[in-house]
Amino acid sequence: MTEHYELIIYEKKDGVATITLNRPKVLNALNSSILKEIWDALQDAEADESVRVIVITGAGDKAFSAGADIPELLEKSPFEARTYSIWLKDVLRYMERLQKPIIAKINGFCLGGGLELAMACDFRIASTNSRFGQPEVNLGIIPGAGGTQRLTRLIGRTKSMELNMTGEHYTAEEMYQFGLLNKVVPPEELDNATNKLIKSLMAKSAATLGIIKLAVNKGIEMPLEEALFYEAECFGIARSLEDAVEGLKAFLEKRRPEFKGK
Ligand code: HXC
Repeated sequence: MTEHYELIIYEKKDGVATITLNRPKVLNALNSSILKEIWDALQDAEADESVRVIVITGAGDKAFSAGADIPELLEKSPFEARTYSIWLKDVLRYMERLQKPIIAKINGFCLGGGLELAMACDFRIASTNSRFGQPEVNLGIIPGAGGTQRLTRLIGRTKSMELNMTGEHYTAEEMYQFGLLNKVVPPEELDNATNKLIKSLMAKSAATLGIIKLAVNKGIEMPLEEALFYEAECFGIARSLEDAVEGLKAFLEKRRPEFKGK
């Protein structure tokens, strides 16, 4: 199914909603309009019970996204730029609390706001030709949607400082070594690798995956004692699901569980 979107391609098939950023001529730069469409598509994907996994990728063979739309950034007043930054932050926060796994399928340049978008996903699989960085410093600005924050949490202060202050590009292999990526594969294997992950996720209880996602994403923001307590609460909720009874019984009956997401 394809909706009325203009700057993204939004497709839903076999339980997977795919959002393809579709401005390849400008390396899928993120302007306000595309952000609005991403937001709409995410809300649809969250509400649609048939959707189990969300994939975000870029059109063309050159970029996932080269970041915020630079001409638009120049047009905006500082106040409007602040509003854009807050809006982008809200979309990315929504991605982190939406209770379905989101995979960034990275197929080229993944820079600035593009990297920030990828970092708000739950998984990042990249092709070997991908290039990463927070080049905002070269434009005389700073990352405005998590580049100084999520990146630090994901790869640590040492490398985050380096990426943010040098604005250099890094290879997929380097980013894998830093801990940013789940997997790096040749471009021709990107679909397969993503599908393999989707298949693994599809075999789980959708409800349980949602609880794990919140436990990880909310827990990391808490002091350890509270986080562990929150995990125990999440554990209780997971155990209360029909799927927990099914999973535990299936193990004892030496069969595959049939989860229903309830
Ligand atoms: C708008 C962009 C763009 C961007 C590239 N283009 N990046 N347009 N916004 N972020 C356009 C180019 O102007 C060009 O258009 C076309 O895409 C192809 O790009 P080229 O530069 O010709 O390609 P190439 O030589 O291969 O270089 C690729 C590149 C380079 C290394 C990725 O384009 C680049 O450095 N882009 C900027 C990356 C960046 O600084 N991103 C951070 C943005 S700030 P024409 O019309 O000339 O063909 C940001 C802040 C986020 O993300 C937080 C906000 C709150």
